[in-house]
Amino acid sequence: MGKDVIIACDFSSAEETLTFLDRFTGRKPFVKIGMELFYSAGPEIVREIKKRGHRIFLDLKLHDIPNTVKKSMAALSSLDVDICNLHAAGGTAMMKAALEGLTRPDGTRPLLIAVTQLTSIDQRTLEEELHIREPLADVVMDYARNAASAGLDGVVCSPLEAGKVHEACGNGFLTVTPGIRFADSSSDDQKRIMTPAQARTEGCDYIVVGRVITAAEDPVAAYERCCAEFID
Ligand code: C5P
Repeated sequence: MGKDVIIACDFSSAEETLTFLDRFTGRKPFVKIGMELFYSAGPEIVREIKKRGHRIFLDLKLHDIPNTVKKSMAALSSLDVDICNLHAAGGTAMMKAALEGLTRPDGTRPLLIAVTQLTSIDQRTLEEELHIREPLADVVMDYARNAASAGLDGVVCSPLEAGKVHEACGNGFLTVTPGIRFADSSSDDQKRIMTPAQARTEGCDYIVVGRVITAAEDPVAAYERCCAEFID
């Protein structure tokens, strides 16, 4: 898969999500489904969106013992999603088990990417609550290396980290980056942002874009603008 724009469909109901996606009559966007929608609408929403021809990043961030993650990943893989993810903090054995679970009988599997550290974790929380004494940036890069050595396909990271991740883990290791805003749009609650054009220059492989598209007056035009800056 090449570079693409992934729309974060952060809606709470299947109806709202499908009504939103109905607006896209040309290019079928790659969509991200998160915990809120999956837990409220269930696997059926994944099947329905897939049936409509969209690719899907199922953002459920699994983190459990290897055997449980392996079996859960097998269930997600049977939904025919394109990208799944987990927390690198679950360890290398868990990540390897996840890959095994994802692999279908015919040998194909969705891409698997890791969350290194949540952007809601700061240095103080890392040290005082998680008892990790290293600088946060080093932890992020170490977790990315662990994910690469476990055989994963990439990480979710800030667009500002994409270059360093590629340096450490190779250019083929995918960087999937939220925190995207147009030069003329509000940053909302995102602290470290880039435009789609800057993300392209940084070498990001996929950008995850939510409110810039979902809350736009014309979501299709906002999506096309993202694509024009990032891919076309
Ligand atoms: O609306 P916005 O473009 O900020 O949405 C970004 C999407 O990426 C949301 O679904 C958010 O949960 C997700 N995300 C993020 N930062 C991370 C990981 C995921 O913004 N570090």
